Amino acid sequence: MLILSLVFLKECFHVVLAGISDLPEIVELKFDHVFFTARTLTPVTLILGGKNPCYVDQHCDIATTVQRIAWARFHNAGQSIMAPSYILCHTDVKARLVQALKCCLMQFYGPDPRESRSFGRMVNLEFFNRTRELLWRSGKVVVGGQVTEAEKYIGKNLHH
Ligand SMILES: *[C@@H]1O[C@H](CO)[C@@H](O)[C@H](O)[C@H]1NC(C)=O
Repeated sequence: MLILSLVFLKECFHVVLAGISDLPEIVELKFDHVFFTARTLTPVTLILGGKNPCYVDQHCDIATTVQRIAWARFHNAGQSIMAPSYILCHTDVKARLVQALKCCLMQFYGPDPRESRSFGRMVNLEFFNRTRELLWRSGKVVVGGQVTEAEKYIGKNLHH
């Protein structure tokens, strides 16, 4: 710590000795970068809840790509912060991509995802309402789109 404060200007570099309980307050200060060490080093993924687009180009292995996108998107009915929000693709693969996604969803959740034990429901009515609004106001539904308010069920849906 002493060496660091001798070598770097204090406007550029600052050492804070803090515990885990101090972290929320420290990261609120909006540093450009934080070095952190701990007794056990666990890999960390910083999750920024934004938009998570996927891009599929004409060289992708469509089957593998689609399995990964579908898993990430439909896990917990899309209610995870890392769920892909939309797909951008090369026009050459669009039709194949949509077809492959339909097949993949059939493989994952069967012909009626409402009956599938692996297909989740919206966590509450507020999320259900918001998702239903998005579904009705945007794009063209190519698969699914059924909604059942009593169950907070929204059928798998893909727009294009
Ligand atoms: C959801 O929408 C229904 C109308 O379909 C409304 O009665 C209800 O108050 C809304 N709930 C929430 C939490 O937004």
